[in-house]
Amino acid sequence: MTRLTILEYPDPRLRTVAQPVQVVDDEVRRLVDDMLETMYASRGIGLAATQVNVHRRILVADVSEDHSQPYAFINPQVVQREQVGATQEGCLSVPGIFDDVERAQRVRVRALGRDGKPFELDAEGLLAVCIQHEIDHLDGKLFVDYLSELKRQRIRKKLEKDRKLRAEARTPERPRAPAI
Ligand code: NI
Repeated sequence: MTRLTILEYPDPRLRTVAQPVQVVDDEVRRLVDDMLETMYASRGIGLAATQVNVHRRILVADVSEDHSQPYAFINPQVVQREQVGATQEGCLSVPGIFDDVERAQRVRVRALGRDGKPFELDAEGLLAVCIQHEIDHLDGKLFVDYLSELKRQRIRKKLEKDRKLRAEARTPERPRAPAI
């Protein structure tokens, strides 16, 4: 399995609308496995293919604490939603930022599984929120889009600063000329 690179906001590729999967073949299964590995390695509970720069309608999720409930949703659709409420969300593409977003707390999802077979799932709480957040990614939408423009500006600035700090930490310091 391979750990994939996650795109970060405001990368314009995160705005791509993903295409439906026609056939669930070995390539799709490999991608699902790589996405799960990438999600676990990044300590996430959900990941959409869009975030790893693959623009096909595939997402993975696991809200358990011990990585025991991995889900793959291919061509997912929410067919029923109930009970709107606010939940604090974060996103692997917007690292270190958390804010409240209102979404349905119970959803029924229809999708194809890793085996290519259709299934329906009634999800609630964190899993329901996660599925809606990931489907948004497949439509080129991020959770920060629900926040005010002022907040988004602050987030962009903070992420830019964080990226600079990380880049500096990775680059060994150039030897300095001796002080005279
Ligand atoms: Ni996300």
